[in-house]
Amino acid sequence: MSFLSKCGTVLAGLLLVSKMQSEAAATMRPRAEVLGRERVSVNDDWRFQRFTENPDGLSYDILKPWILPAANPYLSGTKHEKPSEPGPGSNITFVQSGFDDKAWDAVDLPHDWAATGEFDFSEDVSGGTGRLPFTGIGWYRKSLTISEETIQAGKSIYLDVDGAMAYATAWLNGELVGGWPYPYNSFRLDLTPYAKTGDNVLAIRVDNAPESARWYPGAGIYRNTWLVTANPVHVGYHGTYITTPTISAEQASIQLKVEVENTGNASQTVQVETEIFELDSASRKATGQAVAKISASTLSVSGNSKQSVNGSTTVANPKLWGPAPKQTPNEYIAVTTISSNGTALDTYETPFGIRTVTYDPNQGILINGQHVPVYGTCNHHDLGSLGAAFNYRAAERQIEMLQEMGNNALRTSHNPPAPEWLELADKMGLMVMDEIFDTWNYAKVDNDFHLLFPEWSEADLRSFIRRDRNHPSIISWSIGNELAEQSNATGTATAKRLQDIVHEEDPTKHVTVGMNNAGPTTGLAAEIDIIGLNYQGEGKGNAASGSFAAFHSKFPDKMIWSTESASTISSRGVYIFPVTSNKSAIVGGGPGEGGDPINNHVSAYELYAPEWAASPDKVFEQQDRHPYVAGEFVWTGWDYIGEPTPYDNSSRSSYFGIIDLAGFKKDRFYLYQARWRPDLPMAHILPHWTWPDREGKVTPVHVFTSGDEAELFINGKSAGRQKRGQYDYRLRWDNVTYTPGEISVKTWKNGAEWASASHRTVGAAAALNVTVDRAKIDGDGKDLAFVSVAVVDEKGDTVPAADNEITFEVVSGPGEIVTTDNGDPRDGTPFPSKTRKAFSGLALAIVRAEKGASGEIVVEAKAEGLVAGKVTVTAA
Ligand code: GAL
Repeated sequence: MSFLSKCGTVLAGLLLVSKMQSEAAATMRPRAEVLGRERVSVNDDWRFQRFTENPDGLSYDILKPWILPAANPYLSGTKHEKPSEPGPGSNITFVQSGFDDKAWDAVDLPHDWAATGEFDFSEDVSGGTGRLPFTGIGWYRKSLTISEETIQAGKSIYLDVDGAMAYATAWLNGELVGGWPYPYNSFRLDLTPYAKTGDNVLAIRVDNAPESARWYPGAGIYRNTWLVTANPVHVGYHGTYITTPTISAEQASIQLKVEVENTGNASQTVQVETEIFELDSASRKATGQAVAKISASTLSVSGNSKQSVNGSTTVANPKLWGPAPKQTPNEYIAVTTISSNGTALDTYETPFGIRTVTYDPNQGILINGQHVPVYGTCNHHDLGSLGAAFNYRAAERQIEMLQEMGNNALRTSHNPPAPEWLELADKMGLMVMDEIFDTWNYAKVDNDFHLLFPEWSEADLRSFIRRDRNHPSIISWSIGNELAEQSNATGTATAKRLQDIVHEEDPTKHVTVGMNNAGPTTGLAAEIDIIGLNYQGEGKGNAASGSFAAFHSKFPDKMIWSTESASTISSRGVYIFPVTSNKSAIVGGGPGEGGDPINNHVSAYELYAPEWAASPDKVFEQQDRHPYVAGEFVWTGWDYIGEPTPYDNSSRSSYFGIIDLAGFKKDRFYLYQARWRPDLPMAHILPHWTWPDREGKVTPVHVFTSGDEAELFINGKSAGRQKRGQYDYRLRWDNVTYTPGEISVKTWKNGAEWASASHRTVGAAAALNVTVDRAKIDGDGKDLAFVSVAVVDEKGDTVPAADNEITFEVVSGPGEIVTTDNGDPRDGTPFPSKTRKAFSGLALAIVRAEKGASGEIVVEAKAEGLVAGKVTVTAA
């Protein structure tokens, strides 16, 4: 039996060494039996309690001396000394093993305590943070069982937290372990000194101050948590760094740096070797034979220290990673083994990709030598009605829909994403601008990251880069967004300091920052690798043009992109008359200004934006007039909780999304699809054609198509044929008089018939049409089915203004309705409600199978006076 297959047997799957790998490794010399690392989820079976008043007298200021040393691995200068006395908090009952937490809520992680709460629509509350109860102190408790063998073997025991909101601090068996304040970063806590055989009580405190965010932050341990057990000598936390300095069709050079950590007291001499395999995208595991090997290096690591070792190899005929759809996102995985005298001590897997990125000041981004225009979107971290609690399927669905639109790039505005979000981008082939901060030295709101910036910015930045730098999807780092100091000397100096850190940690990618005010003569612009412009490039609001040309002439050697563009706002399916005849207009309440401040809606003609922003059409024109611009990251792909501009005083979620909060496409989706997928035959017509109050009234009709010519028909009669002009991105018939019946459009491209679309005037609501995104889901208690309901007339067409109250129910089978939504930014019904009004004819229920369940789950939607609908989802 080969070493690796033995190893796999012993670890009973925990090491996750695949059979394929063991076969590939059969040529390695046989070694003694080993125990290596285990990494197990500790998401399940927590107890939780939220307190609106501080229940324990603790605060970050009190805890800080014991938390700051967590930053030490990332500090280049003076380290923080850990106080010699035990940390505070052990007198608090919540951390003690005897505390009876049965009255607390039983929860599984990822968890967001606020997303299930009530919206607060009182007058003095702004919608900026989403009106959900995210503030307060949250305590989490869980029992961890640690084996005698683990303790006896002197193993290192770590808690890895992918993200906790906010100021997370942990105690094990009543003793303060440490913490990490920045809620979007991942961190590791060393439980070893406090762990014992048998039951261990882990208690985690999070603290969410009011005024800590400009958007809905979520609340609690909102990402995955892991318990990692390793031999004292092991690969350190995020301890590998892979680069591919030279790439040709024949071969790619691979360089790998491995940080080996020895937590034992005695020095150890170890061998470090790595095999490289192709990665199976779905299973995220190695597949086939090893394609390359970095042979063993021997190194001696002193007790309680870390040491790095570099190795290199080549991969023949590399399969490159590249963005879909033109390229293929192939990935590899490096499997590193640390061994001592023939005994394997640790195995560590690093997925990576082989690709080149070129930042061309005149063409933009080239991946593997091929120009790829950046068709990007900015997105927040929340997942709609699920709140901030990370869910793999919900994130995958977000990206799938963006990709369907032709979106090929994501900006993680304005903070590090969940690690799985990057894994999805790697495997689905999207480019990523990975962004870390929204504030530096100065506040945007009172309690935001500026409070932590002086002491934590270096540690947060370095740990963020070390976590993420092997992802092939990441093509750029963003060190910040619209900083208050962007135009002054502090901003320049800070940018230089942060960018230098990024260059040290990952010299292979360029750094950008979102500048909404800093002009071409600022120090920040001179300092930064890539000129990142928020809105100013294309010209804010009604400005005819913006600053692209000035930046390009001042910095002819730097690439420019729109780090943030558009910020167009709309309510799905709501059309407000009259319609501006302009290409872009600033939203307001007056005639032609697109807003309805009584009902708090913005017109879905997709022409309206706040004063700093613009319609997609205007942005497209400016991008086309300045073809050296690499592309844009539209604000935003999906609606998000909070920031309901321009109705912060009355609504709870944004109007910016191309896709609404529930996941229904706004008309804008098709405007972007027409531009971003020019080869997809498509045509989309707006508005709907059911206007009982508009007979005889002018009702403009706009068409979004990837074709170049279109003819509109009203009840079969031509309303005129139009060709798209050079800077036209929609075809508009602004003088159509509404008559009921059918409106249809026929389009052509290069003279050939291309695509068509139509709407007909619908009758009264008659039934509910229920559909689901996937007929089969995993019965793991995490996978989700997204059940959509359309209110339809007798012929089965959606009734566009329908707002019937719909009740969802799992009528049979092992499933539950988690949340419901409808994409209406004003809707105050709590997300977990099983009853929800349709908005513009549609509503959504998110369904999950019970943990460990299998079988058919039947979901029914009912509404008074309508024929109910059902759909079946199979859990397996
Ligand atoms: C930008 C900002 C974003 C968001 C957006 C809304 O200025 O960077 O975070 O607030 O405005 O238009």
